[in-house]
Amino acid sequence: MFLSDLRKLFINYFIENNHKYIKSSSIVSKYKDLLFVNSGMSVFKKLFYNNNNLNFVDIVSNQKCLRVNGKYNDINNIGFSDRHNTFFEMLGNFSFGNYFKEKSIYMSFKFLTDKNYLSIDINKIIITVYYEDYDSYNIWKKLGIKKYNIVKVGDKNNIKYNSDNFWNISYFGLCGPCTEIYYDFGDKYDGNFPGYGNVGDRYLEIWNLVFIQYIMNKDRNLLKLKYNSVDTGMGLERIVSVIQNVNSNYEIKLFKDLIDIIKIELYKINFSVTFVKNISNSFFKIISDHIRSSIFIINDGIFPSNKKHGYILRKIIRRSYYNLTSIGIKKPFLYKLINKFLLVLYDNYNDKSLLKNNNNINKNIEDIIFKEENNFINILNNGLLILKKECKTNNNFFSRETINKLYNTYGLPIKLILDFCKSNNINFEY
Ligand code: SER
Repeated sequence: MFLSDLRKLFINYFIENNHKYIKSSSIVSKYKDLLFVNSGMSVFKKLFYNNNNLNFVDIVSNQKCLRVNGKYNDINNIGFSDRHNTFFEMLGNFSFGNYFKEKSIYMSFKFLTDKNYLSIDINKIIITVYYEDYDSYNIWKKLGIKKYNIVKVGDKNNIKYNSDNFWNISYFGLCGPCTEIYYDFGDKYDGNFPGYGNVGDRYLEIWNLVFIQYIMNKDRNLLKLKYNSVDTGMGLERIVSVIQNVNSNYEIKLFKDLIDIIKIELYKINFSVTFVKNISNSFFKIISDHIRSSIFIINDGIFPSNKKHGYILRKIIRRSYYNLTSIGIKKPFLYKLINKFLLVLYDNYNDKSLLKNNNNINKNIEDIIFKEENNFINILNNGLLILKKECKTNNNFFSRETINKLYNTYGLPIKLILDFCKSNNINFEY
């Protein structure tokens, strides 16, 4: 099953269950307190407060998301985690004051385990619930999940509601207890049982059902909303990794194709097959992830700049480029990937609301990436001079503040600054 098949199955399932399908909004958030949409629910924010104008109540969506700043920021995980992407598509069902825990849990369970849908073995499913959420615990038990596979998760550091099972839109705001569904890849992989630390490669969180009931204020007190709502989110690329049985987002067919494109372009500039074979996996993960994200961001009308959305885009392109320098590339390269990446992405995100297929935009994306690579090459060339100067001013010591300044002002990658410190015996704190 490919991305498009799974997306279709999910949307149709919820339509059959009386949900209205809402297409993905732009990845650029329409709300000022959020740069990019980071979850399916964030585009429906207002409906959690007031559903008066709805002539339908329940919604199903497949929302483009980007987790690159604020509370949900995965940028530094990319390259090291097999389960994270900066860009992903979030499948979700929502109810604003209509159904609640029982129906929501039942529908998710059926979609995952029923023969007509994903047909996942019930023994491979592990559940976590907020320790005070007895309702969810009992519903899962009633559906046949064994007691030892339902974990009650408490608060961290004795701070009330500071828990992986109490979801919050940001540091405060809309929130509620959540129940997470994990998939067990089996004992050939290492990892702690969900709720007991790092789940490693063995367990994968596939779906989060959040029961939005409150607004958390800045003092962490909860105010009850007028009605209870449901917000669920399942990362499409992750659930596809389960169905394609590959235990890594980067091994699903989509990413394999993207990574193959990078390899072919490397061969074309005379890297040998043996050399390419020995390049780290993290190299390919960073480039495939970041260039895919950049394409989606530019496709939604953002240009690299020093502010807000444009700054995030710039950071992603530069992080990819800097990665290229580790294998000695010194000329623009990423732009060569764009056309071929686009062909693969159109196949998988074949819907105007996800990716607009238009020759002018394509050419534009390629040009933007090319220019940004060139800008950054100039910065890197000047970087050494900037660093040497800074070294004198700071008496051979780089504080965290200085490092952040160099990063924010000149766009010098943190890794570049730290590498420079190490190879020149300069003390630093970071
Ligand atoms: N809002 C929840 C999340 O992002 C579920 O959609 O995980």
